[in-house]
Amino acid sequence: MRRLGRLALPLIGFALAGCRWQSVLDPQGPQANELAWLFWLFTWVLGAIWLAVMIALVLALVRRRPPRTDPLAVDPAQDRRYTAVVTGLAIATGVVVLVLTGLSYVSQRNLFRVEEEAVTIRVTGRQWWWEVRYEEADASRSFTTANEIHIPVGKPVKIKLSSADVIHSFWVPSLMGKQDLIKGQENDIRLVADRPGIYRGQCAEFCGLQHAHMGILVVAEPEGDFDRWRDAQIKPAEPPGDPERQKGEAAFLAQPCIMCHSVRGTPAGGKVAPDLTHIGGRRYLAAGTLPMSRGNLAAWIVDPHGIKPGVNMPTIKLHPDDLNALAAYLEGLK
Ligand code: CUA
Repeated sequence: MRRLGRLALPLIGFALAGCRWQSVLDPQGPQANELAWLFWLFTWVLGAIWLAVMIALVLALVRRRPPRTDPLAVDPAQDRRYTAVVTGLAIATGVVVLVLTGLSYVSQRNLFRVEEEAVTIRVTGRQWWWEVRYEEADASRSFTTANEIHIPVGKPVKIKLSSADVIHSFWVPSLMGKQDLIKGQENDIRLVADRPGIYRGQCAEFCGLQHAHMGILVVAEPEGDFDRWRDAQIKPAEPPGDPERQKGEAAFLAQPCIMCHSVRGTPAGGKVAPDLTHIGGRRYLAAGTLPMSRGNLAAWIVDPHGIKPGVNMPTIKLHPDDLNALAAYLEGLK
C-alpha cells in the first residue's frame, strides 16, 4: 500500500500541476504532428490490408470446392486467372511498401529540417537526471538548471544532446520523437510547441536502476513569460532573509552538499549534481519523482535511497532542526 501510495503521489501531483499526460497521440507541435500523422497513416493502411487478408481467408474457408476427380487435369483459363491475381497482389504489395517508405522519408526530412533557432539548450543525460544549460552568445546570460526546460511558444528550439555516463534517450512525446544522448557525441533535435502547456518527457533508453525515475518537464510559455523566467534564472540566489532560512543556508554550506551541488551566489560550486540555485521554482524534485514541497525536500534529503534506490546522492545525517531549516532554505530558492 505504501508502495502504491509512493507511485501514485507523483501522478496526482502531475495532474494537479496541470500537465498534459505524455502521449504520442497528443501532438502539440509540428514535429510531433508529423510523427502522429505517420503513425495513423501506417495504422489505417496496414489495418485495412490485414482486414482484407482476414476476409479473403474466411471466404476461402467457407467456400470450399468439392475435391477434384482428376488432380492432374489442368484448366488453362483458371491458371491464367490465378496468375493474374497473384501478380496483381505482388505488385500492389510492392507499391504499398514503396509509397509508405517514400512518405516516411519525406516525414524524416521534415522532422530534421533546420530552422533558425530562437533558443539553444544543451541537455546532458546523467544517472538519473537531466542537466539543462541555456547557451547564449553572451556568456554572462548562460545558466544551468535541471530537469525542467522552459521554452517560448511557437519558436524553434534547438536541443543539443549528449551524456555524461551511459546512453540515455530524450523523449517528450507531445513535441518530438526520441533521440539518444551518447557520451562523446552530440546529437541535435529541434522542436516547436504550438500551444502553452507543460509537457512531460521520459528517458527512453534503459540506463540503470532508476531509468524509470528519469522524467523531464518541458514548460512552453508565451515569450514574455519565458523571458521573465530566463532573466530570473540568470540571477544568483538571493541571500535568505529570515533566521530559519539563514540557519538552513549555514547547514547547507557546512555539509558535503556543496561537493556536488551549486547554488550560484554562495561558495557551493559542485558540478556533478543538479544546480540548486532556483530549485524551489521547479515543479518537481529528483527528476519528476516527487512534487516540489518543503516536506518532500526534507524526505529526499533524509532518505534518497528509499525514494530512488541506487541514486548517487548520499544520505547525510542532520539534526531534525537543521533538516527543517535546510528544507526551508531550498524551498525558498525560487
Ligand atoms: Cu536515462 Cu533511462
